[in-house]
Order: sequence, then structure tokens, then C-alpha cells
Amino acid sequence: MGRGVLLLLALFVVHLHPSFERDVYHKSSRYPTVRNKEESDPNFWAKEAWQGIESSRYKDNVNKARNVIMFLGDGMSVPTLAAARTLLGQREGRTGEETQLFFESFPTIGLSKTYCVDAQIADSACSATAYLCGSKANRGTLGVTADILRTNCSFVNPENYVHSIAEWALAAGKDAGIVTTTRITHASPAGVYAHTAERDWESDADVLDDCASAQDVPIDIAEQLVHNYPGTHFKVILGGGRREFLPNTIIDEEGTQGKRLDGRNLINEWIEDKISRNVSHKYVWNRQELVQLSLSPPEYLLGLFEGSHMKYNLKADPTMEPSLADMTEIAIRSLNRNNNGFFLFVEGGRIDHGHHDNLVHHALDETIEMAAAVRRATELLSDEDSLIVVTSDHAHVMSFNGYTRRGGNILGPSDDLGDDGLPYMTLSYANGPGARSHVNGKRVDVTADEDFGDLDWMTHAEVLLEDETHGGDDVAVFALGPYHHLFTGMYEQSRIPHLMAYAACIGPGLHSCDD
Ligand SMILES: *[C@@H]1O[C@H](CO)[C@@H](O)[C@H](O)[C@H]1NC(C)=O
Ligand SMILES: *[C@@H]1O[C@H](CO)[C@@H](O)[C@H](O)[C@H]1NC(C)=O
Ligand SMILES: [Zn+2]
Repeated sequence: MGRGVLLLLALFVVHLHPSFERDVYHKSSRYPTVRNKEESDPNFWAKEAWQGIESSRYKDNVNKARNVIMFLGDGMSVPTLAAARTLLGQREGRTGEETQLFFESFPTIGLSKTYCVDAQIADSACSATAYLCGSKANRGTLGVTADILRTNCSFVNPENYVHSIAEWALAAGKDAGIVTTTRITHASPAGVYAHTAERDWESDADVLDDCASAQDVPIDIAEQLVHNYPGTHFKVILGGGRREFLPNTIIDEEGTQGKRLDGRNLINEWIEDKISRNVSHKYVWNRQELVQLSLSPPEYLLGLFEGSHMKYNLKADPTMEPSLADMTEIAIRSLNRNNNGFFLFVEGGRIDHGHHDNLVHHALDETIEMAAAVRRATELLSDEDSLIVVTSDHAHVMSFNGYTRRGGNILGPSDDLGDDGLPYMTLSYANGPGARSHVNGKRVDVTADEDFGDLDWMTHAEVLLEDETHGGDDVAVFALGPYHHLFTGMYEQSRIPHLMAYAACIGPGLHSCDD
């Protein structure tokens, strides 16, 4: 190797580790370097390690799972977990990095591969089909095989349906329910009950946009929930999305106009269906009405708390909108009355939306909210008979980058500067609406924005896109309860419902049971 090459290599290494060369701390850093004193003692780290060993010397749990709860953090990538736990710790007055989100203490963790049959990077529809129905599909499609292409207006033959674990649970005499912070007709919750070639067909208006001239117009997702199996049998349905159920001649309780063109009021039709079946039921649209039911929920409960998605937790009026933990609790109290147990799907759906808008503070806060909902579930159920799985459908392109000192504000700029001498954010994106035009050929200093650090301030992105994209990385799967150990390893996302079914002896897992 010539001397010149070596020199170049040396320069390159220095370039990779700028903090070794220039100890530049950003001048506006508000946080002094923090050291936790006890961390200088090797025994501190040894104790931490031994606590881990002790707590994982659990006995294998090979009980049959009476209950299965799947928590889905939409877009909850692995860097999102690291950043959210740091924010949680910093809110509690610590350095932050050492914190655990509640479910990060679960005994088994695996990784799932999220690509779809026609897509390197998943959307929330094909991935929902994988993690709920156990079969990979094409992007944009729900509850159908990969023979069905997106937005095909032809009738989907039921031979092309794939069925969700909620149906497997119902067939085994269990109850089922869905809870989300998005519209209840949005891709992830719809994966529990819908069969459609297009995730965007949430109301008949959306179907007509694409299929006005089709022979048999496909049934929209809201109608499928109210009138088709298995949605007709869900004991609990909680989320947002009233507009998909109401005619466009109606303004709902909070001022949102309905979307439907067929003049139907599917909320009333849901009520009429329950009356005709002579079962106790209740429709609620705000937190107060929901909480009043918490001790004795009706047999069937429909709660729609917003016209579209529920508000971000940090922006919601807590007297009007229930938290994800509130909704999870009442769902469990309701479903747990069935002696055969239940399957419950709970989605923290707005993690994804925070990322799409480069609103990283919201993405992290919604992740913390989901961890609180998981904790609530474990307080109400025993890991002797209840399997809890926490995972995500796909990653995002947020990176956790730079060389910031311990305890540095996770929502702040890196201690380091770019080679252009300007600050950059510890949490930034490869793409999205936060991309700024260069001024006079130079990157702008986003920390000088007037609204820097506000809740609606967008962190910066490299490539300008109206919507930040998903990422293709693997996502984590956390498991607690019966057969949690099956969830270790790296596997296809479509394996997840098969593992849950095996633990519960339902659906395709039935063959595994001797009793
Ligand atoms: C749509 O689906 C129908 C029925 O499965 C099929 O015959 C047709 O070729 C599909 N059309 C397209 C454009 O894929
Ligand atoms: C409806 O249910 C109630 C309470 O379970 C029962 O007393 C009543 O007989 C039922 N009515 C009909 C028409 O089945
Ligand atoms: Zn998304």
C-alpha cells in the first residue's frame, strides 16, 4: 500500500470519528455532560447482568394460552424503541438511555422479516395479512392471498380469502375484540376482519372512486366490519373513524362530516343488528361514556371516539378521548368474561403517523403510550394463562445518529456539527416533509427555526417527500406468557399468528393439542 493511500485511509478514519478529533459540543446544548456515579463500579454492571440471568431462569411456560393479546406498534422500528425509552427516562429525570419500556423486560425477543410478496418494504396492509392471517400478501391488500393484486375491482372469490387469528379464536369458542388509535377501518385493525384488494376502500365513497364501473362493486371495509363475519361477532370495537360509518349528509357529535354516499348509517345498523340478536350492546363516542361502562360492559361494545384517527396523545383532551391503556382495560374486562378466553388486537397506530410527518416527538410519545397499555394488560391478566405479544408491522427511516454525550436531550441536536459547521438533530430522517431547501447552497440551521422544539416542529430529512416512508429493517417481537420461548429467533412475519395459534391450540395450531 502506498503512503498516499495510507494517508487517505487515516483521513477517512478521522472523518468517521469526528468526535475523536474535534471535541465540538454544540454551543446551544442545554444539558451538561451527565455521569451516573454508580456506573464507574464494575459491580454495578455485573449486578445488572446477574439480575438478567436470574430473571431469565424462568421455568418454560407450556400452559395452554387461554388468552392471546397482540399489541402492534405501527411503524415501531428498533431505533424508535431506543429513542422512546430514552425519552421516557429523561421525562423521569434520568439520563434516559438505561431505561426500559415496559415490554422490553419480556423474557423472549425475536426479529421478524417484514417484506411482502410484491414489495421489498411493507405497507400496513400486506404486513397485517402476514401477522394476523399467517400468510404474506401483496402491498395494499388485506385478508387475501397473493393471487389478488391491489385495487382490482373484481369480486374477490372467498377461495382467495385468508382468515385471521380472530376467526380461529371465535371458532374455538373464544371471544375477540379490536382496539386502535387509528380509524377502526384503517389497514392494521382491518386486517383482523376484512377481505379486500384495497386497504383504502374504507367507505363506499372510496370504493366508487376506483370501481364505479365494476360489475360487482366490492364491499367497503366499514360495511364488512358491521355486517360480515367475523366483525359481526367482535364483542369490543374501539377506535376512531366515525366518518366511514356515516352518510355525508350527517355531521357527527364532534363536527366531522360523514363520508358515505349510500345514505347508510352503519352505526345505527350495528345497533339494529344487536337488537335483532337480543344481545346487550352500547355505542359510545367519548371517554366519559366509555369509563361509565368499565365495571359492567355490555356484551357488545362499539366506541368510535373521533371522525378520523384519534388525536395524538399529547394533543388529546383527556376528558373526551380515552387513552390506549383505558381502551385496553375495558376490552380485557369485557372479553375476559368468556370462560374459553379471548383474542384481542391492540394497535398503537399513530407511532406510524408521527414518523410519516417527521414529528418525532409524537412518534416516541405514542410508543410510550403503547408501553403503558401493555403494562395495564399485564396488571389485569396472569402470564400463567395469557400470552402477550408485542411487535410492529414495519420499520421507518428515522435514524438515531451522531456522537452525543450520555444523557443528551433525545429530542435535541447532536453534540457534533456537520462538516458544514451546522448542527444536526440526533433523531433525523432519510426522507419526509421535514426536508429543507438549501439556502445559498448551504444546509439551514434547523435549531434556529422560530418554532424549534415545538410539538409540531418537523425534524430534518434528507429527501423531500410529502410523507416519510417506511423502512425495510426487521422489527422486534416481544413475548410473555405461555410458549413465549417460541418467539425467539429470526423468522418471517407470517409465522407470528401460527406461533400464537400453537400456544392457544386454535386454528392451524389445533393439531398440536393432545387434549
Ligand atoms: C382482477 O381479478 C380478476 C379476478 O380474479 C382477474 O380475472 C383479472 O385478471 C384481474 N385484473 C387485473 C388487472 O389484474
Ligand atoms: C332477550 O333476552 C332476554 C335477556 O337475556 C330474555 O329474557 C328474553 O326472553 C329474550 N327475548 C327474546 C325475544 O328472545
Ligand atoms: Zn405507515
